[in-house]
Amino acid sequence: MALAMEIIKKDHFNYKIVTQFAVATVIWGIVGMLVGVVLAAQLIWPEITFNVPWLSYGRLRPLHTNAVIFAFGGCALFATSYYIVQRTCQARLFCQSLATFTFWGWQVVIVAAAITLPLGISSSKEYAELEWPIDILITIVWVAYAIVFFGTIIQRKTKHIYVSNWFFGAYILTIAMLHIVNNIAMPAGLWKSYSAYAGVQDAMIQWWYGHNAVGFFLTTSFLGMMYYFIPKQAERPIYSYRLSIVHFWALNFTYMWAGPHHLQYTSLPDWTQSLGMVFSLILLAPSWGGMINGIMTLSGAWHKLRTDPILKFLVVALSFYGMSTFEGSMMSIKTVNSLSHYTDWTIGHVHSGALGWVAMITIGSLYYLFPRLVGKKDMYSIRWIEIHFWIATIGVVLYISAMWIAGVMQGLMWRAFEVDGTLTYSFVESVKATYPFYVIRLLGGFCYLGGMLLMAYNVFKTLYGQQVIEPAIPNFQSI
Ligand code: HEM
Ligand code: HEM
Repeated sequence: MALAMEIIKKDHFNYKIVTQFAVATVIWGIVGMLVGVVLAAQLIWPEITFNVPWLSYGRLRPLHTNAVIFAFGGCALFATSYYIVQRTCQARLFCQSLATFTFWGWQVVIVAAAITLPLGISSSKEYAELEWPIDILITIVWVAYAIVFFGTIIQRKTKHIYVSNWFFGAYILTIAMLHIVNNIAMPAGLWKSYSAYAGVQDAMIQWWYGHNAVGFFLTTSFLGMMYYFIPKQAERPIYSYRLSIVHFWALNFTYMWAGPHHLQYTSLPDWTQSLGMVFSLILLAPSWGGMINGIMTLSGAWHKLRTDPILKFLVVALSFYGMSTFEGSMMSIKTVNSLSHYTDWTIGHVHSGALGWVAMITIGSLYYLFPRLVGKKDMYSIRWIEIHFWIATIGVVLYISAMWIAGVMQGLMWRAFEVDGTLTYSFVESVKATYPFYVIRLLGGFCYLGGMLLMAYNVFKTLYGQQVIEPAIPNFQSI
């Protein structure tokens, strides 16, 4: 018996790093969303931050996007990929010290971003604003991440590589390539650099990066999460494992070509814009294939949705994934894009993907993870998870419906003509008409942030409460 325990302890998974990243996810989620709420308020009351330059809209906006995508989303992906790769490979993380380095290295990147962006230090490339010294640190941390992740796969004790690991593997490799290629620059001092690209090539490289950042950082990776936590929480196997493999290859191949839909009606060659549009339409097929595969995994377990708030988070996330990908494909059609581009419709689309898909799948997965990481049976309060689910859902719906209406209204107002050819509305009139919708969006933001604060308290009580029900020793029979 003692020997068996020793063997188990020796082979014990590294849950410490998973817990660290999971806690960081909640903290950075709150910070990033709080900045989002401040931005939403600034668009209603521009002087709410007392004209302090560090808190100006132009500096806080990239802080928000970096915080929610790379700090909140990034930490969630580190946590879940490290957990899933260990469980499905039945192997402890490869090279513990390197894994620890990825945690602290990533936190330094986040803090460096939180300092430099409000100071106005920026490369001005969207979602790649950080200056070259931070970019180099990101590259080093990412290479370490790849070594830990793929090293664990090589050491696996199972024959098969579970599909989630394919999705995580593709995201790790692709993000490395995107980050390096888009950030090639000539330094001109410690905090200033010039991009290696110019003009239309710069725009194309930037949106090849930007779109695939969405495709691989915010989609492929989170699908890896989905393919593990939905079957686990529903206690059902994936609806079709074969479909998950077809989904993997089709999605990754198609995403790469869709970037030009961000540059419709620009000086990019017209055929490139059309190619981006066509691939974006094709992209709908693998996106919905994945969504259907996830949702159908609940076959025979639908009744659980009535009582299980974690499953509600996971399944509603998939529904938003389906909605935002359908919307994205439609918005890439040139005629639709001529209406939606520059309007708040795009912001609505972004947050139906970000709050509805990315954040909800993360929140559901973390509620599954926390008790298991510390050897408890459940989260401290299931009722609070239920409340969180409803205020988050109301928050997203308020946010995105307000932005859709505002966006379509703006687009229509900007293109309205009188019979003599003059514009029916001035730009300021469209801004004025948007105010009520900005107030609704702010309300939605408050709801979502409120839910995150409730989650933080629930997590705190789960981690530091007294009642330990089961030891955090893995069950080797189940992955
Ligand atoms: C409480 C929650 C949130 C609020 C109130 C919020 C609010 C905002 C606001 C006001 C903007 C600027 C819109 C504009 O310039 O017109 C914005 C942009 C953005 N947010 Fe959020 N946000 C929230 C959560 C998130 C999350 C969780 C993510 C990602 C996971 C996210 C991703 C983005 C992105 C990518 C943009 C830039 C969109 C673009 O350039 O088209 N946000 N957000
Ligand atoms: C089939 C999948 C998708 C397609 C074809 C698609 C397509 C599009 C299109 C056409 C735009 C507007 C470009 C413009 O007019 O400037 C856009 C913007 C955007 N989408 Fe999607 N989308 C998809 C899924 C998603 C998902 C799931 C997310 C988030 C998780 C997302 C995040 C974004 C962001 C952040 C932007 C704003 C980029 C910027 O201008 O800063 N998209 N997308």
